[in-house]
Amino acid sequence: MRLAVRALRLVVGILSLPMFLLNLLGVWSWICKKWFPYFLTRFTVMYNEQMASRKRELFGNLPEFAGPSGKLSLLEVGCGTGANFKFYPAGCRVTCIDPNPNFEKFLFKSVAENRQLQFERFVVAAGENMHQVADGSVDVVVCTLVLCSVENQEKLLREVCRVLRPGGAFYFMEHVADERSTWNYFWQQVLDPAWYLLFDGCNLTRESWKTLEQAGFSKLKLQHIQAPLSWAVVRPHVYGYGVK
Ligand SMILES: C[S@@+](CC[C@H](N)C(=O)[O-])C[C@H]1O[C@@H](n2cnc3c(N)ncnc32)[C@H](O)[C@@H]1O
Ligand SMILES: *[C@@H]1O[C@H](CO)[C@@H](O)[C@H](O)[C@H]1NC(C)=O
Repeated sequence: MRLAVRALRLVVGILSLPMFLLNLLGVWSWICKKWFPYFLTRFTVMYNEQMASRKRELFGNLPEFAGPSGKLSLLEVGCGTGANFKFYPAGCRVTCIDPNPNFEKFLFKSVAENRQLQFERFVVAAGENMHQVADGSVDVVVCTLVLCSVENQEKLLREVCRVLRPGGAFYFMEHVADERSTWNYFWQQVLDPAWYLLFDGCNLTRESWKTLEQAGFSKLKLQHIQAPLSWAVVRPHVYGYGVK
C-alpha cells in the first residue's frame, strides 16, 4: 500500500510539476497567498450552503458564553474572508487574526455585509503567537478549517487557552484524516503533497481530534461526521467546542 501511495504521488507530482518548480524557485508561496483569498471566496459560498445547518447548530449556543456585560467577545483565528460572520449573534464583538494580509480586503467586505456585529480589528499574525491579544481577554475563540493549515496545533491551542477567560470556549469545525482502513484515507495520502502546495499549506491527513482531546479542556464536545461536500477527501470532519 505504501508503494502504491508513493507511485500515485509521483504521478500527481508530475502532473503538477510547474507548481513544484515554482515552489523550488521560491515564488509559489507568494502566488498562492495572493490566489488563495479568491479561491476561498468561491469555496465559502459552496461550503456555507452545504454546512449551513451544522454551522447553525454549532454556533447556536454562543450567547451562553457572553461575559457579565451581556456582550460576547469573540476572537476568530485564521479568519480568512470572514465566512462565519453571519452565524454570530447580533452585537457580538469580533476580533480577527490571520497571517495572510491579502485577506483584509475580503474580510472588510464581510464586515460591511454583517452590520449586526461590532467589528474591532484585524491582526496579521499566526495563531501560534497571538501576543497582541491579552491573557484571559476573550469569551470565545473560533477556528474553522484552520487546524489543517497551522504549523503547530499544540502551540496554537496553548495560545487559545491563554487568551480565553476561565469558562470561555473554543469552537471548531475542521476537516480531518479519514479512518486509516478506508480508500478515502488512501486518496488523502496520495493527494496530500500536491494539495498542500495548491491550497496554501492545507494538510489532508491530520488527525486533529487527537490534539483537541489532549489540549486540557475541562469539557469537550466533539463530533465526527462525513460532511455533505462534493470533494470526498475533505468530507471527514470534526466539530464542536471545548470549555477552558
Ligand atoms: C482554509 S482557510 C479557512 C478560512 C476561514 N476560517 C473559513 O472557514 O473560511 C485557512 C485559513 O487559515 C489561515 N492560517 C494558515 N496558517 C495559520 C496559522 N498558523 N495561524 C492562524 N491562521 C492560519 C490561512 O491564512 C487561511 O485564512
Ligand atoms: C500532513 O500531516 C501528516 C500527519 O501529521 C504528515 O505526516 C505529513 O507529512 C503532512 N503533509 C505535509 C505535506 O506536510
